[in-house]
Amino acid sequence: MSVTEIPSKVIVEERQGEAYAPFKNDANQYRKSFYIESYGCAMNFSDSEIVASILNGEGFGATRNTEDADLILINTCSIREKAEQTVRKRLTEFRKLKQSKPGLLIGVLGCMAERMKAKLLEDEKLVDIVVGPDAYRTLPVLVEEAGGGQKAVNVLLSREETYADISPVRLDSNGISAFVSIMRGCNNMCTFCVVPFTRGRERSRDAQSILKEVEQLHAQGFKEITLLGQNVDSYYYTARTGDEPVTFARLLEMVAQVSPEMRIRFSTSHPKDITEDVLLTMAKYHNICKYIHLPVQSGNTRILQLMNRTYTREWYLGKIDQIKRIMPDCAISSDIITGFCTETEEEHRDTLSVMEYSKFDYSYMFFYSERPGTLAQRRYADDVPEEVKKRRLQEIIEMQNRLSLESNQKDIGRTFEILIEGNSKKSDAHWAGRSSQNKMVIFPKTNDACKKGDYVHVKIDACNQATLFGKLVADQIHV
Ligand code: 5AD
Ligand code: SF4
Repeated sequence: MSVTEIPSKVIVEERQGEAYAPFKNDANQYRKSFYIESYGCAMNFSDSEIVASILNGEGFGATRNTEDADLILINTCSIREKAEQTVRKRLTEFRKLKQSKPGLLIGVLGCMAERMKAKLLEDEKLVDIVVGPDAYRTLPVLVEEAGGGQKAVNVLLSREETYADISPVRLDSNGISAFVSIMRGCNNMCTFCVVPFTRGRERSRDAQSILKEVEQLHAQGFKEITLLGQNVDSYYYTARTGDEPVTFARLLEMVAQVSPEMRIRFSTSHPKDITEDVLLTMAKYHNICKYIHLPVQSGNTRILQLMNRTYTREWYLGKIDQIKRIMPDCAISSDIITGFCTETEEEHRDTLSVMEYSKFDYSYMFFYSERPGTLAQRRYADDVPEEVKKRRLQEIIEMQNRLSLESNQKDIGRTFEILIEGNSKKSDAHWAGRSSQNKMVIFPKTNDACKKGDYVHVKIDACNQATLFGKLVADQIHV
């Protein structure tokens, strides 16, 4: 799963704990204002943009300040225990705010909604509204009910909802990159994962509505689209019986053809589902980025079986070989869990050796966190002691740090096409942008004609483990 999201550096744990608030203070145009904060994967961030659109339609404008808000929403993540703890802490802070502003409504959206509804609403009285990921259309009614003093809840999951017809309101946008959700839910039932329970069954969004959204983004000047889903390679859509189905490979091609000036990324791929067709389509289009997030989770076949990943170590390595054969310059990243139930030292070393073989450009690394209701929680004992899980995680991180540095060192002397995303965080005299391989590149502003959203060529002359540094190759800007 997971998603996009993806800064080009090694991130441990925080990936699921970042929050953002809306960028614009457009409360003045509206009768009331809402504040929204999102945690977890890119899918949640994308959902918050759908929620913003629904609320705009009801006369609520976005605000950055909790003090100005009539409605505070928190879009939550359940994937690991730590993510849930962060949300609970935040809710306690919002509750304090409510004491000085009695009309204020507080709502919980997303993955924690189903699991925690009784607790949040009744036991701890932390919130007024609880809405699950498939029930955002009912938010206006729920807000009204809560305003009238009732407890407002809708956590029903749906087999159809894709919010296909709702145009997301871009929050916290740099005007260059946008997420487009192409499917919802997951049918995979990895035993460690709570997502199939919190987000429900997999369903694919109408291909034409995806295309329309991408065309609109192109018209608005966006330059990079990330197609999002828990398992994008199982995208499959047929408008009417008898029509030729749209597979993920076909969808990628349709979206890539919108404009050669618009980069296409996608996340997340399940190793069992990514087809040769997808790889060949990536190779065929310059504007489909040469980067795949391909979570391995473990490098040991017995553990992979316990995780219900449905592939073996050898099969995964074969996939890596196939990707490198078709696209030698393709970057690959991974998700890795250490200390899954019954994992031995030898099995842990299998994960290290898969990393080394695959030469992951970066990874998101976690120690196993048992989640209530998952298959693993029901079937297996969480029997690897916490200090062992953490020590193994540290070894995985050290391996990834070395691999990331080696990968970046190989780029020294090479020239890459970079999409400028904005100023470097550390210096206004430098631009920051990404290569097709999703690596962050920093370079000095030596040409006044360059601006955000331009493609430029940059020759790399230095690096650290997270970032490449280089210089503009003269006169090769295109907008
Ligand atoms: N414990 C630790 N990590 C988990 N992930 C999912 N569930 C768990 C869990 N229970 C990780 C997986 C997944 C990523 C988004 O989060 O690596 O790919
Ligand atoms: Fe990803 Fe597996 Fe969870 Fe589905 S069940 S979201 S594939 S980790």
